[in-house]
Amino acid sequence: MLFGTQEIKDDALFIGGIKTRDLVTQYGSPLYVYDETHIISQINLFKDNFKSKVFTANIAYASKALLNKTIVKIMNDHNLYMDSVSGGELYVIYQSGFDMSKVLFHGNNKSIEELQMAIDYGVGLIIIDNKDELNVLIDLATKKKTKIKTLLRVNPGIEAHTHEYIVTAKLTSKFGESIFDDTQIDTIMTNYQASLYVTLEGFHCHIGSQVFGETPFIKTIDVMSQFVKKIEKRYHITINTLNIGGGFGVYYTEVDTPEPLSELLKKLISHAETTFKKLQLDIKTLFIEPGRSLVANAGISLYTVGFVKETYGNKNYVFVDGGMSDNIRPALYQAKYACDLANKMTHLKTKTYTVAGKLCESGDVLVHNAKLPKPETGDILAIYTTGAYGYSMSSHYNKMPRPAIVFVNNGKSRCVVERETYAHLMWLDR
Ligand SMILES: Cc1ncc(COP(=O)(O)O)c(C=O)c1O
Repeated sequence: MLFGTQEIKDDALFIGGIKTRDLVTQYGSPLYVYDETHIISQINLFKDNFKSKVFTANIAYASKALLNKTIVKIMNDHNLYMDSVSGGELYVIYQSGFDMSKVLFHGNNKSIEELQMAIDYGVGLIIIDNKDELNVLIDLATKKKTKIKTLLRVNPGIEAHTHEYIVTAKLTSKFGESIFDDTQIDTIMTNYQASLYVTLEGFHCHIGSQVFGETPFIKTIDVMSQFVKKIEKRYHITINTLNIGGGFGVYYTEVDTPEPLSELLKKLISHAETTFKKLQLDIKTLFIEPGRSLVANAGISLYTVGFVKETYGNKNYVFVDGGMSDNIRPALYQAKYACDLANKMTHLKTKTYTVAGKLCESGDVLVHNAKLPKPETGDILAIYTTGAYGYSMSSHYNKMPRPAIVFVNNGKSRCVVERETYAHLMWLDR
């Protein structure tokens, strides 16, 4: 499936009005290419459908999916919030000129330095993971006499991944405190109530990634709302914020069947409105935190084909000039991708190939069972939907320099992250 401005002209794959081969000629190979207009249309899709007259509906981009100066600027220009999980992500967001009051800071093991950094940067919401972290933050805030707004991350016992979800099964997650753990929650609530500086605005949860269908999210709104009600009654407080995380599934291959986001988001808003009303909750702000669904389909990876091998055991390989160093997802969790030979888009697909990288691991496979036209050295192989968790999970394994990132828009291209050179591979060595 082609997304956004991806199109076929005269046998070749184009993106943003530019022939993919020309992008490789200009910027080198392998290459991450992003269709900027597609990112912006996804942002608008979220903004147009995730809105309510009853409460403020906020969209926080989960920056772990793709983070660089340019993407931060796009999110800033479109008034999104941003979520971060480490000092490094906070640093990049801050250095890129983002309004830090619109940043959420997550993490199950934030260091004192990271918490201090978040306070100094004026981060809008710190998401507390556990009681010890709360105590550290209370100490820091008290010493600085600074008011800090927080959410508490809880585990609602819903685990969702792709088409399956399980309720009250996953009580062993490393993230947050279980909503069923009254003792732990009670200690935390007591500490909150004793603090002059750290406030509990509400609760956060995230049920998983690549989640399809509305049911797991609807269930999450139900469970979290009931939990809020219970806390409000027990501790005589009012909770004003709920954050139900990200995880909206996207299309990678034909097995993925995402519901149109416009429908899904409207249903979530309407379900939240009725549930809050029914339970008489005064939730003023509802957050979601999409990462993948904002950037995945906008990105493609371009590789140059090297050798083509048919093994003695009858397996056909196409070797490309990147691999698990620029996309670990297939090796890490058997993620599936679709691909094409970008210079032979209308050729007959005659055989099934394994698209393998050049790294020294048998598991360094990018696409299994890819139906392709006859591949030849020098062809351009495009892998679709690599916009999320590709660059951000990349590594220097086998001393592979990271590819460049190029944004295309309306016939124009610009490099937004330079290609690493061999010198970068040694720049910290002493
Ligand atoms: C807390 C939290 N929020 C949001 C996300 C974004 O998820 P996705 O990219 O699947 O939308 C993640 C992903 O791991 C997460 O852990």
